[in-house]
Amino acid sequence: MTAPWTRDGDDEWSFDEYLPPELQLKSFVHFTSLPVARHAVRLLAPTAGMRILDVGSGPGKFCLVAAHEAPQASFVGIEQRKHLVYIATRLAERWAVPNVSFIHGDVFALDWSGFDAFYLFNPFAEQLFKPWQILDDTIEHDPKHFIRYVTATYKRLAQARAGTRVVTHHGFGAPPPLDYELASDTPPGPSSVELWIKRR
Ligand SMILES: C[S@@+](CC[C@H](N)C(=O)[O-])C[C@H]1O[C@@H](n2cnc3c(N)ncnc32)[C@H](O)[C@@H]1O
Repeated sequence: MTAPWTRDGDDEWSFDEYLPPELQLKSFVHFTSLPVARHAVRLLAPTAGMRILDVGSGPGKFCLVAAHEAPQASFVGIEQRKHLVYIATRLAERWAVPNVSFIHGDVFALDWSGFDAFYLFNPFAEQLFKPWQILDDTIEHDPKHFIRYVTATYKRLAQARAGTRVVTHHGFGAPPPLDYELASDTPPGPSSVELWIKRR
């Protein structure tokens, strides 16, 4: 089956209707919208062959849309909630998206050195949310995790090689290390999306 959001007149529902009802209700807050995904992928993968990591991929909405938009790039989504990885993997199979894979696990247990670019849709903010705002209670929520995850992300980005691209959507909880430059030549697009490029 072809990816349904390529239909004319597409909207969020053309993707979200394939999610379980409890996730459909949360999609607006927790998952990347279609226009943001399309804009972000242009910033992340300007040339063929790029490898992109979605840090906390949820049920795969960003990765699936991005992989479809950029067939010359490859996408990996890593997600701590096993049931979301299951959904993402099934959707990739259903829509035969070949250039995406999903891993169940903690993003900090993964080696980030194999990636050229990182996508971060404020992945750790949920640790600070009120109980009624969280995605679900299958993980432990604690503000201490937020500080630990943001610090660990900062360190991973500091270790990345020159040229690494980072696209944030609503940030990740801290500014990137100082050797990242906010790219000023990005085309106009949805707000709250920033492209940072490591200069050295
Ligand atoms: C805001 S959602 C974004 C989902 C997806 N990237 C998108 O844009 O549609 C953030 C996701 O990151 C996951 N996450 C947060 N911390 C994580 C960690 N340490 N390891 C793996 N996944 C994590 C959460 O479980 C959640 O599904």
